[in-house]
Amino acid sequence: MKQNEYPYRNPALPLEERVEDLLGRMTLEEKVDQLMQITIGADTNPNNAGDGHSFRPTIGSVLSYSGGAKNRNAFQRLAVEHTRLGIPIIWGYDVIHGWRTGFPIPLAQACSWDPSLIEAGCRVAARESYAAGIDWTFSPMLDVPHDPRWGRVMEGYGEDPLAAGIFGAAAVRGYQGDDPSQPGTIAACLKHFVGYAAIEAGHDYAYTDISSRALHEIYLPPFHAGVKAGAMTLMSAFNDITGTPAVVNHYTLTEVLRDRWGFKGFVVSDWDGVIQVENQGYTSDPAEMCRAALTAGNDMEMNSTSYRNIPQLVASGRLEMQVVDEAVRRVLRVKFAKGLFEHPYRDEVAPESVSLLPESLEIAREAARASMVLLKNESDTLPLKTTLRHIALIGPVATDPEASAGAWAAMVLPETVPTLRDVIGKYFPESEIHFAHGCDYEGDSEEGFAEAVAAAEKSEVVIMALGEGGNRSGENRSYTNIALPGRQAALLRRIAELGRPVVLLVSSGRPILYPELEPFANAILHIWECGHGAAAGCCDILTGAYNPSGRLAITFPRSVGQIPIYYNRHHRARPDSHSWNGTYFDLDDSPMYPFGYGLSYTRFEYSQMSVSVPELTAQVTLRNAGERAGKETVFWFLSDPEAKLTQPIRRLIAFEQIELAPGEEQIVTLHFDRMRDLAYIDPTGRKVFEPGRFILSVGSEKAEFIVRAE
Ligand code: BGC
Repeated sequence: MKQNEYPYRNPALPLEERVEDLLGRMTLEEKVDQLMQITIGADTNPNNAGDGHSFRPTIGSVLSYSGGAKNRNAFQRLAVEHTRLGIPIIWGYDVIHGWRTGFPIPLAQACSWDPSLIEAGCRVAARESYAAGIDWTFSPMLDVPHDPRWGRVMEGYGEDPLAAGIFGAAAVRGYQGDDPSQPGTIAACLKHFVGYAAIEAGHDYAYTDISSRALHEIYLPPFHAGVKAGAMTLMSAFNDITGTPAVVNHYTLTEVLRDRWGFKGFVVSDWDGVIQVENQGYTSDPAEMCRAALTAGNDMEMNSTSYRNIPQLVASGRLEMQVVDEAVRRVLRVKFAKGLFEHPYRDEVAPESVSLLPESLEIAREAARASMVLLKNESDTLPLKTTLRHIALIGPVATDPEASAGAWAAMVLPETVPTLRDVIGKYFPESEIHFAHGCDYEGDSEEGFAEAVAAAEKSEVVIMALGEGGNRSGENRSYTNIALPGRQAALLRRIAELGRPVVLLVSSGRPILYPELEPFANAILHIWECGHGAAAGCCDILTGAYNPSGRLAITFPRSVGQIPIYYNRHHRARPDSHSWNGTYFDLDDSPMYPFGYGLSYTRFEYSQMSVSVPELTAQVTLRNAGERAGKETVFWFLSDPEAKLTQPIRRLIAFEQIELAPGEEQIVTLHFDRMRDLAYIDPTGRKVFEPGRFILSVGSEKAEFIVRAE
């Protein structure tokens, strides 16, 4: 029989049959190759570059952008046409928030609270990166952080496990579409499995001490949601989970992921994740690392090559062949499901024909303005009148496309990202814009202050565009001080002294400290790092063409001393009203801006909340009491004040967005469920419903009710 007549080549056969047929024809060497990923070219992560020296056409996967479809086809041809079985290579890359068209960083996207926007952005990213030869993205990141010193907070969807799962599922749908074998779709990879965000003191790659309870209640649920949404792959994390590194963790990778959740795709390690167990003090023997990772359920090794030990482990009886077969089966399953055997090559289209299309840029702009969060608006400073004659635009963000592109910006070319200075004139055609750089992000120089003061003095209003700079958050970007760096706060104070209304725009990839900024601005818009739509989206808000609707998906502390800080914390033994209550002596205990916070140009009022038991429905009347149409995110929080396993003060169980015209009101209904919403997750991961007293809260409203045993 010729190769092209083998049953696995026949797309009409069931996928599992094709997998078994191919597996049965493979040598051990060929199997090992399928379990390895090598790097060719460079990634946006400067640490991750490889020259592909170990490339063999039988390799399972290639990481990194390597020159587009043409280059892919050249390598793929070697695999498909010049190897015994012709197994196609799967191309992976970090497409985190867009490919050529930049979307807001995931943390910002989460603040839009709009899964359909997240899905739409990921769909564009899939289409663009697919055309460039990518099959598989290492996204979404579903880590749940409690510590903004950790630079990777920018890559996730904030601090709430339910929201991270909902947004992660939306990303999976966007990347993979309804049928992942179709052109224009890429496989998703849920990362980092699991608990990476529980790092100590904000140190990247650090040890994590995670109780069984926290594992099941906080860190695993977003991944479960992503698996249910059909994610084809997962990435095991770098962290050591309470003594067993994630990459060799049989409990999480097999007992939970496969045995309980029924996941059928494959798990790739993180970059060098398998060999890093040596640094973590697990083993220094490469064969043992390989054995431990593979038997735990880590199917593919990224970059490092400890899996080359598989043949000797099998020969010596230390590794069973069926473990190897199972891992290969999972990889092949994804390759068949992706349609790689039928369509191994890419059309060599010019990138411009699929990238930065007007409709993609429109989605990027919509996502950007929906992600920005209005934190302060004293005396309706915003929106600005478009009839202003003189506006000052000051600060390093105003001219910096990289502040909008943000970290992990894939193939976003900064020169294609419009800056505020590029576009602001269009939004204020009657105004003269007086620009001044003011100061750099970092450093001690105040040389630019005089020019900034002069610009401000000529103006009726001053827009200060300050920030972290595009790459201060991201991987390996841990800081003990999360205040704006350099002389930026001093510049703001200097400008505020002039007495003009000050609108502060802050671009960052993580929560920053506002106490030293807030008193010196009349309005504050947190603009994150919002990609191609950043400048236009921001101007839409400044002019009032868009009524800000973003709400924080992560808590902003007042001080680093408050970290870890997150909304769904547990009760202390003594209530706040007690004179010895454990709060700080030197600082207000509350966050600077809490989870869910964000202002609008209109006012929403909640009233007449009711809960019906046993129907398990709740209702509240929402009214737009202001003068502009607006979008409100309605957050439903649950409290379970008495439980055998004590529960957080409150936790989010649902959210919904409602758009209302001025004066309009609507009854918002929540249908809740005993097991899904009222039950808690115990330390083994099981849902437990304890009958009794519950409290639901929404906006300013709260209602207590009792649910009895059925
Ligand atoms: C990161 C991953 C990323 C991988 C490949 C690692 O350093 O932790 O999130 O997907 O590199 O670039």
